[in-house]
Amino acid sequence: MKKVALTGDRPTGNLHLGHLVGSLRSRVEMQNSFDQYIMLADVQALTDYFEKPQKVADSVLEVIADYLAVGINPELSTIFIQSQIPELSELTMYYMNLVSLGRLERNPTVKAEIAQRKFGESVPAGFLCYPISQAADITAFKAEIVPVGEDQLPMIELSNEIVRKFNRIYCTNCLKESAAHLSKTTRLVGIDGKAKASKSLNNAIFLSDSPEIIKQKVQAMYTDPGHVKISDPGTVEGNVVFAYLGAFHDNEEEISSLKKKYSQGGLGDAVLKSLLNDVLQKLLQPIREKRAILNRKDLLEICFVGTKKAKSVAQKTLFEVKSAIGIDFFAKNLGDCK
Ligand code: TRP
Repeated sequence: MKKVALTGDRPTGNLHLGHLVGSLRSRVEMQNSFDQYIMLADVQALTDYFEKPQKVADSVLEVIADYLAVGINPELSTIFIQSQIPELSELTMYYMNLVSLGRLERNPTVKAEIAQRKFGESVPAGFLCYPISQAADITAFKAEIVPVGEDQLPMIELSNEIVRKFNRIYCTNCLKESAAHLSKTTRLVGIDGKAKASKSLNNAIFLSDSPEIIKQKVQAMYTDPGHVKISDPGTVEGNVVFAYLGAFHDNEEEISSLKKKYSQGGLGDAVLKSLLNDVLQKLLQPIREKRAILNRKDLLEICFVGTKKAKSVAQKTLFEVKSAIGIDFFAKNLGDCK
């Protein structure tokens, strides 16, 4: 039996190169050795995009297209839409009783997000509670492995607390603890040299970008402002072009010789950028071509099948949870109701 792994993305826009190195590549690898579930977390996305529901709804199929284009195989990975499995919301309700408000307010990731979104005094209750709903996602599928970035560690910790508390209070062992699987790759910097490539900062290269846009974004990349003349010695550290070459160019020898040349002086940004452009065009062309032949009907069909499968698993866990609490009224004595 393969171990269950669950991951998810908030659908709030197309995926970019940061996602490719941060999660997509490892999902493509993992789908062979794990029973992998990949969730479009649209319910979670709505906890802060509730005023832009169209953006969330439109992004669901875009993100699925990105998944398939990079090689996630729906025969091996179960791709599903969170909002179409109300069992997840129902589980969330039972878990809410097990978590204090103070505990939610202490979550460092949520705290940072609240500050970033400038909610001020009026934090939506749904936003504060999304880690509970995430615990429902994780436990519904009895996921043992949750591949995530470091910022998600508090969610998994909370999920495990809920599991232990639930099992203790309701004298059961139906819920299983899970372990985070931190991705080995470092996060990708934005093309502007900011800490992280992200769609909200508008500093990312998207998997669906056209060849012209890719070229423009490479041209605009932050390098070393002190490197004015070709003969000037340049700085490699913090230089976005080198960061991207490190992440996407497979010829390490060439990279180290370029770094050496650049730091000594004598290597211009234009040459480097042209090399990176070639590398990225070669990487993204097949992804874009695969994406282009996916139509809406096929994408919907794929996530319909995945969602149906995921729903039956979540239903089973919800049944066990309600039985443990003792509110499985009609399940036990259906005959009595006729
Ligand atoms: N919070 C995750 C993110 O922002 C998305 C997510 C929702 C998730 N539910 C999940 C990740 C369950 C792993 C497991 O990226």
